Amino acid sequence: MKITTSDLLRKKRAGEKIVMLTCYDFPTATLEDAAGVDIQLVGDSVGTNVLGYADVTQVTVNDMLHHMRAVARGAKHSFVLGDLPYRSFETPEAAVKTATLFAENGADGVKMEGEEDAIEKVKAVTGAGVPVCAHIGYTPQKLGKAAVQGKDAARAMQLIDIAGRLEQAGASILVLELIPDELSAIIARAVSIPTIGIGAGRSCDGQVQVFHDIAGMSPAIFRHAHVFHDVKSAMRLAIDSYLSATRNGQFPAEANMAHLSETVRNEIAESLGRTTGRV
Ligand code: KIV
Repeated sequence: MKITTSDLLRKKRAGEKIVMLTCYDFPTATLEDAAGVDIQLVGDSVGTNVLGYADVTQVTVNDMLHHMRAVARGAKHSFVLGDLPYRSFETPEAAVKTATLFAENGADGVKMEGEEDAIEKVKAVTGAGVPVCAHIGYTPQKLGKAAVQGKDAARAMQLIDIAGRLEQAGASILVLELIPDELSAIIARAVSIPTIGIGAGRSCDGQVQVFHDIAGMSPAIFRHAHVFHDVKSAMRLAIDSYLSATRNGQFPAEANMAHLSETVRNEIAESLGRTTGRV
């Protein structure tokens, strides 16, 4: 059974932590699904983690659709959230158009960065039947350089206010990025929808991490992340071992090849003899 926004709401009410993790491809989607990840986020972080872009502003709608379809094929249970990329939701009409395209290509909902400017777009997209995850605090598409948000009372009050208004506009999930733990606690209590934090302390209803960060595959090391297993070294080991086994002739081994039967070898030898004059 697919996880729905009602299941996520139930988890918040029951105090069960929600786990969100980015995912960009089919094999990882099947792994995350089997592990029981609640939400697989096809984040625009695909740009820097997979596509070699300098930053997320280079990610296109087509990039997102390509990766989203792959993830949707593997996510039988997880809720698949597609991240609306930079400049793909400039107006409520554009937001509905892109969100609908995402839903047609396997997204169970869309994530949208923005604060005041997102209110009308959240209303329009939820009105069109696509669940929305709002994203406030540090928003990479607009703010560029990462910085903790809401450290002073004025900005903190602004974030508390906007969280409530995004919920009223129809958002079913709220991502809080790079904000102090105490502020996350206030927002998590103030809204009834699940809050999912990244670099936002442990008071949120759940956490989201970038897969490449927890697997040690990111070029950068972030304070808000933790390498839970060094997958990058494991991948390098596989490549190095294949390389040396091929170069020293140990690969392929007997187990990796097929052989001709003696009868077929003789038939070929005979044919070659007839056609080329060689035995
Ligand atoms: O694209 C992404 O990975 C994200 C998360 C950091 C929330 O937006």
